[in-house]
Amino acid sequence: MEGIENYAESLQNYLNGVVTIKEPKKLYEPIKYIVSLGGKRLRPILTLMTCDFFDKDFKEALPAALALELFHNFSLIHDDIMDEAPLRRGKKTVHHKWDLNTGILSGDALLILAYQLFENYEPQKFNELAKLFSSTALQVCEGQQYDVDFETRNNVTILEYFKMIEYKTAVLLGAAMKMGAIVAETSEVCKINTYEFGRNLGIAFQLQDDYLDCFGNPDTFGKKVGGDIIANKKTFLYLKTLEKSNESDTEILKQLFSSFPKDPTKKVEQVKKLYLKSGAAKESLQEIENYTQIANNIIKKLDISGKNKAVLKSFSDQLMNRKV
Ligand code: IPE
Ligand code: IPE
Ligand code: MG
Ligand code: MG
Ligand code: MG
Repeated sequence: MEGIENYAESLQNYLNGVVTIKEPKKLYEPIKYIVSLGGKRLRPILTLMTCDFFDKDFKEALPAALALELFHNFSLIHDDIMDEAPLRRGKKTVHHKWDLNTGILSGDALLILAYQLFENYEPQKFNELAKLFSSTALQVCEGQQYDVDFETRNNVTILEYFKMIEYKTAVLLGAAMKMGAIVAETSEVCKINTYEFGRNLGIAFQLQDDYLDCFGNPDTFGKKVGGDIIANKKTFLYLKTLEKSNESDTEILKQLFSSFPKDPTKKVEQVKKLYLKSGAAKESLQEIENYTQIANNIIKKLDISGKNKAVLKSFSDQLMNRKV
């Protein structure tokens, strides 16, 4: 078993050879910019780790791992346009640093670069990886559309919320795990179980992203805290608060979520208070723990060494305590 730093370093070296600036610079510079801002590199690490844990040289999984990270970065550029976000990884978002068209096209190019990386595999693996990639990428788009649709809908259910985050975020973590298993040529059962681990971890991950968007530390979070409230995102926090509040608080929250104040400071503060008062913030943390637990229970079924099981469990537990 290799250390996580080792996976990250190998990925970085591989990435440096793939993502370069060439003409036309206005297409490639934003790509280099967003990937150079780094981030946690969660998805590629999951791919490399899974491949490694099934006793295959993890370097064979580098093209698939990088494909997922490039796809993720593509989705972030376009997501920031859709969410009108000014900040990403502590720096200006691509469409703020350049402009809207630059964000659209460099995002498109990143997506193609991601697909190209699967050409590094022989036909059978290429087929399996590319198929999984395409179906996952389409689900991410569907999840993103639901997310935007929900901004202006007033009857979103918690069930619908969970489906939305499963699609926009969790399936990519599932696919990241499964791709590691595909490269390692495991059994079908192993592939299914690794996918399920990643999918459940991904649900916990998005619940926590939503929590941190509200209650994270603005100095270290790297994104604009309160952004989801400003955009009227129907998060678990919002939906649970509606469910648990008295009539008057429910009315106040609904009112706040139909307003677009020029200075949103007060709106953000008021909404956060309601999320705390209702107990929704607490319940959200419980749900994060719950889905992390579901993921951890799947580890038992994986055909990997006891030592690697412990590493995987400590990895998901650490993720639950993240602040960025
Ligand atoms: C942000 O993903 C978008 C979500 C799906 C929540 P990450 O939190 O993994 O972003 P980086 O790559 O670490 O910046
Ligand atoms: C993002 O969800 C999901 C995808 C990028 C597909 P968010 O909109 O919550 O992600 P952040 O918070 O901007 O990173
Ligand atoms: Mg966003
Ligand atoms: Mg979004
Ligand atoms: Mg978010």
